[in-house]
Amino acid sequence: MSLVNTRIVDQIAILEIDSPPVNALSVQLRSEMIAALQALGEQPKLQAIVLHCAGSTFICGADIREFDGEPLAPHLPELITLLESSAVPTIALLHGHVLGGGLEVAAACHYRIALKSTNIGLPEVGLGVVPGAGGCQRMMRLVGVANAVKMATSGRAVKVTDPSYVSLCEHLIDNQDDLLEQGLAWVQRQLVENSLSVKPTSELALDTEAEKIDWQLFKKQVQRSAKSNPAPLQLLQQLERYWPLPVAQGEKHTRELFLQLRQSTEAKALRHAFFTEKKMQAGRSKQAFSIAEVAVIGAGTMGSAIGICFADAGFKVILLEQSQQALERGLKRIEDEYQRSYERGRISQKQRDQRLALIHGSCDYASISEVDLVIEAAFESLQVKQTIFKSLDSVCKKAAILATNTSYLDIDVIAQATSRPEAVVGMHFFSPANIMKLLEIVKADKTSDAVVDQMQQLAKKLRKQAVTVGVCFGFAANRIYTRYGREIQQMLLEGASIELVDKAMREFGMAMGPLAVQDLSGIDIGHNARSAYPHPSHDPGYFKVSAALVEAGRLGRKSGSGFYDYSEGSARLDAKVEQIIATVAAELKVVQSEFNTRSIAQRALLAMISEAVQVLDQGIVQQKEAIDLIWLHGYGFPRAKGGPMFMAQQWGIAELEQQLSELREQHGDKIWPSLNLAKYLA
Ligand code: 3HC
Repeated sequence: MSLVNTRIVDQIAILEIDSPPVNALSVQLRSEMIAALQALGEQPKLQAIVLHCAGSTFICGADIREFDGEPLAPHLPELITLLESSAVPTIALLHGHVLGGGLEVAAACHYRIALKSTNIGLPEVGLGVVPGAGGCQRMMRLVGVANAVKMATSGRAVKVTDPSYVSLCEHLIDNQDDLLEQGLAWVQRQLVENSLSVKPTSELALDTEAEKIDWQLFKKQVQRSAKSNPAPLQLLQQLERYWPLPVAQGEKHTRELFLQLRQSTEAKALRHAFFTEKKMQAGRSKQAFSIAEVAVIGAGTMGSAIGICFADAGFKVILLEQSQQALERGLKRIEDEYQRSYERGRISQKQRDQRLALIHGSCDYASISEVDLVIEAAFESLQVKQTIFKSLDSVCKKAAILATNTSYLDIDVIAQATSRPEAVVGMHFFSPANIMKLLEIVKADKTSDAVVDQMQQLAKKLRKQAVTVGVCFGFAANRIYTRYGREIQQMLLEGASIELVDKAMREFGMAMGPLAVQDLSGIDIGHNARSAYPHPSHDPGYFKVSAALVEAGRLGRKSGSGFYDYSEGSARLDAKVEQIIATVAAELKVVQSEFNTRSIAQRALLAMISEAVQVLDQGIVQQKEAIDLIWLHGYGFPRAKGGPMFMAQQWGIAELEQQLSELREQHGDKIWPSLNLAKYLA
């Protein structure tokens, strides 16, 4: 099937590109576009060439699926050169997303007409590469050097109407249905007025303001956001050095960098993350979606944030609390959060008001009798939750879905408090719920497939990355996170310092060190959750450090001290904690070892992988990609490292086997069991 169709109307050629789903520039599309342009070169009396894409979007970039293999000819720069050197004016009609290679194609045309809703961007750095076909160089000439550098090094897309980028287009159109017709009418008008000339972007001058760019400021911004991904900084260094060069020369440098980075482990990891997200969201539902109004039980930090999530997605929300006072606190928290988002420019005043208007408070269970879904976000106690579910069972309509946001508790037991266990499901949000993308949908023993299906559809509407998991302590995410936490604490007992442990994981690329995270979330939270279960007899040191800190009243930031001391505001190391750890280690006769940042990060990662494989083996999650999704979107795992399972794959079975067996020898097979690695990493 051909991807490009050409027709000529009144001496204007229309190149219609139709390569679903996103018109990515595959080798076939590049070949066909080149062939079509070459054929048009032979056409006498042609006055203009218009590029238009079928479907919901313009070209969204190179075909990322090709990046794992060798670059295939014809390459994108060849197509770009043909467009720019065309003997007749070339015009791109833009709609949907104009990204990466798509923007490079548009920038190589002589004119651009866009729907006002169009998004434009150079997201290549998000895939660990850089624009490989002169996108930076041409955008510098179309929107100014600083704006082009910002777009390419941040990878963020903007609306075509953004004042900093609006100069990209010569003409803007309101309605999607009018794009082709009005676009052609504009071209015809310009032809009649004799004002449509060949205008190669490469020949445009650079803006004079470029001399004043503060490259150091850019560097700071890039370093803050790039973490383990080398692409943005390398691109910035190149642009700082080469920006004044003519397009062809500048493009040559970035093309070389593109080809080099394309093979990097980071780029492979980022592609893995991209396709993992798509794969985990795939799957069509057979049922109609039936959730319109929801109730959230509990207006604490979590409940309020869950309420925001739903209002952001346009759902009506009833926030239910026991007392008017607690309810007002929750509603105020929500109002403040929306006000902050508005002041930071994330939402408009209208959006703030609309979303706030969707949320209502109540202290009366009768008010939620008609909602389609209830999410319980009350205190983490089995008894409390069972009481709530009993009430829900008696007041909610028969078709309602009853969800709990528990992090650890047994949902099978919670469901027993109702007469409809098939309607009970876990909906485990991660804190802060309105920001973190991960959502665990927990299918309990009796949860019906229809309910899980509704949850999966709902997750898409809430723009969450959902994984469906089974019931066990901590489900998939917190169970693996607990294993990671256990290993961190064990290394403390074996002599690794607090400072070194946090440094190791930060250098690895985690947003925060694990001990600083514990202080932030409250050491007592996990401690209380674990206390409901028997202490594992094979693991005498199991979270003993946390237990000792809780006993000493060091609960984290909220109590002024935890692993660190906060009495003077910022976190400071405290010799008392090292003493507490040393005392526990001496009591348990823990053998002391030497650590460095590399060995700490490696052992922490091995713990994650070991638990993940067991979680897979026990059928708690079905796909190994779910593990990476959990870590990327729930715990700030560096995207440029792909996730624990991706890293395991990179290490290879032999290397992993050897490292795990060394740990097994030292610490026993109850902590480091033999694993069926081949099943998941082959
Ligand atoms: N290459 C190959 N497949 C792509 C693709 C691409 N560039 N972009 C999207 N797809 C696929 C997705 O994998 C998905 O496939 P599936 O249906 O089999 O799961 C399908 O297209 C639809 O994608 P989404 O579900 O993401 O659709 P949305 O409408 O939600 O989002 C989008 C569309 C904003 C375009 C989003 O897909 C996206 O951000 N894509 C990546 C864009 C990108 O990074 N482009 C730059 C590529 S690198 C480049 O151009 C280098 C150049 O400088 C040389």
